[in-house]
Amino acid sequence: MMASQVVKPDTRNCKRPRELEIFLHFVSNLSTIAVGFLSVMVRWISVLKKYVESTRQKKAIFSKQERLPCIAPLVTTVEETPQIVSACVRGHFPQWLRGYLLRVGPGKFEFGKDKYNHWFDGMALLHQFRMEKGTVTYRSKFLQSDTYKANSVHDRIVISEFGTLAVPDPCKNVFERFLSKFELPAITDNTNVNYVQYKGDYYLSTETNFMNKVDIKTLEKTEKVDWRKFIAVNGATAHPHYDADGTAYNMGNSYGSHGSCYNVIRVPPEKVDLGETIHGAQVICSIASAEGMRPSYYHSFGMTRKYIIFIEQPLKMNLWKVVTSKIRGKSFADGISWEPQYNTRFHVVDKHTGQLLPGMYYSKPFVTFHQINAFEDQGCVVIDLCCQDDGRSLEVYQLQNLRKVGEGLDQVYNSVGRSFPRRFVLPLHVSLNDPEGQNLSPLSYSSASAVKQADGKIWCSYENLHPEGLEDEGGIEFPQINYGQFSGRKYRFFYGCGFRHLVGDSLIKVDVVNKTLTIWREDGFYPSEPVFVPAPGTSEEDGGVILSVVITPKQNENNFLLVLDAKNFEELGRAEVPVQMPYGFHGTFVTI
Ligand SMILES: [Fe+2]
Repeated sequence: MMASQVVKPDTRNCKRPRELEIFLHFVSNLSTIAVGFLSVMVRWISVLKKYVESTRQKKAIFSKQERLPCIAPLVTTVEETPQIVSACVRGHFPQWLRGYLLRVGPGKFEFGKDKYNHWFDGMALLHQFRMEKGTVTYRSKFLQSDTYKANSVHDRIVISEFGTLAVPDPCKNVFERFLSKFELPAITDNTNVNYVQYKGDYYLSTETNFMNKVDIKTLEKTEKVDWRKFIAVNGATAHPHYDADGTAYNMGNSYGSHGSCYNVIRVPPEKVDLGETIHGAQVICSIASAEGMRPSYYHSFGMTRKYIIFIEQPLKMNLWKVVTSKIRGKSFADGISWEPQYNTRFHVVDKHTGQLLPGMYYSKPFVTFHQINAFEDQGCVVIDLCCQDDGRSLEVYQLQNLRKVGEGLDQVYNSVGRSFPRRFVLPLHVSLNDPEGQNLSPLSYSSASAVKQADGKIWCSYENLHPEGLEDEGGIEFPQINYGQFSGRKYRFFYGCGFRHLVGDSLIKVDVVNKTLTIWREDGFYPSEPVFVPAPGTSEEDGGVILSVVITPKQNENNFLLVLDAKNFEELGRAEVPVQMPYGFHGTFVTI
């Protein structure tokens, strides 16, 4: 091809004929129209792209299921099994696997004629699987909480739970019953969410101010502990984090005349006296709530080696509604509302100094119940979370919904937002000189961005940590990692439950580096939160086994403890137990 030279004509002092002016005017208008048309097209393409993206996300959130099997037996009262039962082992349990899998969840849903409304309300049933030399035994006991005992004595619900308001004593006269509405509600010690550890002892925890210390061998409660006797908090989460030396970190709210605060708590690892519980606990940082009377609800938080990450999400607790719940005849759950007109905010606290970092990190509204892991890299905090775009799932887990059948059950499931793993990157050292509108994340391996805005806030957009196939599995919840070796560190694998039903119906291993899934499923069976147990003598991240309690509503099939090779998810063995078990929440493995 020959090169061409363009010579511009000299138009100075050259008058254009009128026809040429008209023509040029026409061309000019045409080009304006063309530019306008093009910009409209660009806008439409952008809108179309956003629409395609949103429909893809909607598909992710609302992946439909039909003809779901009834799971009512999994959320129905069962008998406890206090005497040790030998399990029938098929396949094998590794000889090195010596210890207890301890789990807790709701197991009794009525007293007398009174029935609980919400799944979270059921009385705590403690499960213990003991593994030694390839054999497995099982036992379970109801936690003898003061709430359980009071309800049993009166044969009715006398203490309110999350979704159930205790009604006044029918033996009182009308006037006494009216006055009792103005008494402050008694706070439950039905600690049915998780086993937690402080100073080497195990406690059962929910999110109130009470925890119950238990003997993990006998499953007997030994002591009731009240956070308020040690520090100025009204409760703490059931998902503390631990340093390698046993120092525990947790978060809990406080309410005062100055409004409400989110407090970071530290509990030292060692006892000064043998009888200690959480003595020495300290509030190391208080974060003021964005709205004093409407703090956010949170269920867990993140921790790196140096930082605590607190997520203030637009799932709000209306304290006025909570305080007046008895007068209004409403449960505590009525005071919680999803308010997506607000964004979600991340707060970062130096856990060694207690200093709240100045960075203002925001993202579009989402709700998270369980964080997966968090770590530091190249001056950033990287935090991975199971996220839902719709924060109304708490309302859905009413027992009447879980016990539905047929189309009613399908409708309930299809109305719930699914949970997906997402990564956020929070750059820690943001200066006034950093340019606006530019992604401040230096991490080449993550598409998560953190963009400085004109008002100094950092707008965070997430990276999906999963391949598209996870949408077909109903998303993922109950995330667990190789906590002992990889908590607070860069990691590759996490494990969770797929949710093609209202409870977990598969076990999934997610490779967050290569974005691949490995899945275990057996139709008609519902596995619990997978717990990773490392094999001795290996430092490989997935060198070990996964334990999960798998239950079924089928009357002619047994529930079992499943053990998978964590590398390939192949079944090593299962220990069948001819005992009815309800679907539970969380647990832990304790070596013996
Ligand atoms: Fe939880």
